[in-house]
Parts: sequence; C-alpha cells; structure tokens
Amino acid sequence: MIEARGLTKRFGDTVAVDDLTFNVAPGKVTGFLGPNGSGKSTTMSMIMGLNHPDAGSVTISGKKYHDLRWPMREVGALLEARAIHPGRSAYSHLWSLAQYGGIAKSRVEEVIDHVGLTSVANRRVGKFSLGMGQRLGIAAALLGDPAVVLLDEPVNGLDTEGIRWTRRLCRDLAAEGRTVFLSSHLMAEMALTADQLVVVGKGRLIAELPVDDFVACSSKRSFKVRAANLDLLIPALEDAGALTIREANSSLTVTNVSAETIGELALEQQNALYELTDLCSLEDAFMELTEGVVEYRAASR
Ligand SMILES: Nc1ncnc2c1ncn2[C@@H]1O[C@H](COP(=O)(O)OP(=O)(O)OP(=O)(O)O)[C@@H](O)[C@H]1O
Ligand SMILES: [Mg+2]
Repeated sequence: MIEARGLTKRFGDTVAVDDLTFNVAPGKVTGFLGPNGSGKSTTMSMIMGLNHPDAGSVTISGKKYHDLRWPMREVGALLEARAIHPGRSAYSHLWSLAQYGGIAKSRVEEVIDHVGLTSVANRRVGKFSLGMGQRLGIAAALLGDPAVVLLDEPVNGLDTEGIRWTRRLCRDLAAEGRTVFLSSHLMAEMALTADQLVVVGKGRLIAELPVDDFVACSSKRSFKVRAANLDLLIPALEDAGALTIREANSSLTVTNVSAETIGELALEQQNALYELTDLCSLEDAFMELTEGVVEYRAASR
C-alpha cells in the first residue's frame, strides 16, 4: 500500500507536484497517468525517498521510505535515471545490490531467471540492448521480493515482445498480491495493463478511478456500427435521439445513445449487427480530462 497525502514538490518557480493525495492498493496494477512533465517521476522519486517533499508525506506500508528497516525487501523501483557501470555484468551488478540489501545470492540467480537474462548474465551491461537493460532494471527492483513495486515508464522504447512481457509481469505481480504502481503517458498501454488509475496534470490530481470508469466518464461516447441494413437502422436510431454519420466504408458513427440502445433497436428490426465498437478511446477520455493542465502542447493548426 502506498499512501500520499498532500504531497508537494517545487523546483524554483515550478510546482512539479502540487498537493497530491492518492492511495495505491495491493493486489492490483495502478497506472500513474499524466502528460509529459506532470510530475510522475518526481512523485515516484519522493516515494523512494530520493527527493524530499516540500509539504505533505508519502508512506509505503505505513512507513516513510527512510524508516523502512529493510527497504529493498519492502519496495522495489525501476526509476527513469538508471546509472549502472557499463563494464559490469548483470550478475555482478545485481549481486552488489543484493549484498547491500542483505539479500541471498540464490535470489540473484532467481531474479535473473525470472526476467529471462540467464544467457547474458555475465555479459557487460554496456553492451545490453534497451530491452535487456530494462529487464535488468526490473530484476533489480524485484531483488528483495518486495510487496510494493514501482515502475516509471517501463515500456518506453520497448518492442512489442518487451511490452507484452512487461505487461504480463505487472499483472502477475499484482495477482501475487503485490502493490504495483506503474507510470505511463501511453493511454492505450494503461487500458491493457492497469486496473486502477491515478491521473495527474501539472502535478495535480485530476482523477483517481478504475480504468473502466475512466472511459465511461468521458462525455463524447461514440460507436462504430455496421449492420445488414443501415437504411433501416438510421431512422430508428435518430428517433431514439442519436446523431448518426455515414462513413465511406459503409459503417455508421453513432453518438448520443448507449451501446444497449443500438443493440436493442437493431434486434427489434431483426437487423443483424455486424459490428458495434466503442470509439471512445482511453486517449480521448484522457485528453478531455487533462484539457487545460497539459504543460507542453503543440499549437493547434
Ligand atoms: N531536478 C529538477 N529540477 C528542476 N525541475 C525539475 C526537476 N525534476 C523535474 N522538474 C520539473 O518538474 C516537472 C515535473 O517533472 P517530472 O519529470 O516529474 O514529470 P513526468 O510526469 O515524469 O514527465 P515525463 O512524462 O516527461 O517523464 C517538470 O516541469 C520538470 O521540468
Ligand atoms: Mg517521468
């Protein structure tokens, strides 16, 4: 469990984290979502005791990081900035961390195996690909078998296989009952990985809610509809208050009514539905929610 209360951090005139209060519960993946510069990394570094808050506090399992007796056994993190000596092997890097944290040698081999680096464990880290480096960072985070795991943008720059692997790992860690806190600015990725979201913009809390509610709460819900007879369906939908747009590919974009209404109207007409897709993406919901709180935005043309 992570509990942040009124967490605030300033860098000169910039308020990087602004009175942030949220909980991260065990047994689920909680996504920490926000545009670039919204304070995600700063928040994570405060959780890990690397940055001192100007106000407020954050605890891990009820304790501040510096009060944890065996920090590596309670919380593991993959943060943005990773400095690993390039001449070291993965094995020696993890072994030195293990010695520092009072962790057995056997656990080093275990985590190397867990992240799939066994075959390259003795290779110099400087020669590692981005994906291998990321796996090594995750191995380091898991070394102490911690109940709380923080991953800052773990899928940045990874290929499809690496992204899938990270996603599965997060889900597995949560299924084991751990607290998993995962930051990203990639909405689509969060939809697939997270159960719960903490959404921030300009350091402020925008929303704290389950992923499903995040999409549902967006006001601009629209659906792509394909059916056996669109000419029959359109007037019925419009009578029910829908706005319909015929698309070039003989599908229909429908707004203002629910998926249930569309399905039931089609059924009444014995009009076979070939497709009913929710077009309101997590992306749209995110854009809507963070409107006005994005620090850097491309000028609209
Ligand atoms: N060490 C620092 N000194 C000065 N300003 C900083 C420092 N670290 C962060 N900031 C500023 O604080 C704000 C939040 O930055 P942070 O890196 O926490 O955002 P983020 O949400 O992690 O962004 P990204 O998605 O780009 O990783 C930004 O305006 C950033 O420029
Ligand atoms: Mg960041």
